Amino acid sequence: MSVTTAPPILTVRNLSASIAGQQVVESVSFEVPATGITAVLGRNGVGKTSTIRAILGLIHRRGEVTLAGERIDGLPTHRIVQRGVGYVPEDREVFAGLTVAENLALAERDKNPRREFVAELFPDLVARRAQAAGTLSGGQQQMVSVARALLNENQILLVDEPTKGLAPKIVGEVADALEEASKIVPILLVEQNLDVVRRLAQGAVVIAGGRVVHTGSAREILDDDSLTTRLLGVSAEVHS
Ligand SMILES: Nc1ncnc2c1ncn2[C@@H]1O[C@H](COP(=O)(O)OP(=O)(O)O)[C@@H](O)[C@H]1O
Ligand SMILES: [Mg+2]
Repeated sequence: MSVTTAPPILTVRNLSASIAGQQVVESVSFEVPATGITAVLGRNGVGKTSTIRAILGLIHRRGEVTLAGERIDGLPTHRIVQRGVGYVPEDREVFAGLTVAENLALAERDKNPRREFVAELFPDLVARRAQAAGTLSGGQQQMVSVARALLNENQILLVDEPTKGLAPKIVGEVADALEEASKIVPILLVEQNLDVVRRLAQGAVVIAGGRVVHTGSAREILDDDSLTTRLLGVSAEVHS
């Protein structure tokens, strides 16, 4: 049997992007494997969210983005989403005045949404289906946001800082959910919590100043203390 490497699910080449005329992504290139979790790392303000939003066509962008071998950089956002790019935005963006069930129903795009999978993954949301999403905790809102993306069959999920601002116990629960999700869909994960990255990510892309400055295995990057200190401004030593 010959060993074959699956082609990447997402390829980004020389992606640049601007917001209100100001360039926020300079020239970003990387590949996302078709399985597992790939982390996007970098200090605050380096352009991680902008890179994700540029892939989705939510901000003005130039460069080449291919999904499963097909160019998507010329498409409007709704077409990119229809091609199977799921998005879990940085600030969750649940509809506060709608119930959990309504938030989930609005996200359904497929003919046969994965309601059972989502219900098994998030029993707490089933129990709270009639509760207004705005009255949920931050962690629960994050679960709603992840659940919405999992209802549809996507080729990739773009997940932006899902553990930001959450209590340590809840961080673990969100990480559990992402780990389960990654068994059915590859994930590009922007994450500042390096313990979460260490646990979940196989590969990592480090961004600084709107450019990719390092790519490799997540473990390798996290184990290189001078690299993490220089590029992430933190020590990745595990404190236990
Ligand atoms: N809506 C906006 N208007 C103007 N500048 C923005 C806006 N959003 C982000 N920026 C700028 O773009 C740069 C990259 O931001 P962002 O992509 O959010 O970084 P990260 O996600 O890595 O923290 C930052 O300098 C930030 O100040
Ligand atoms: Mg961000």
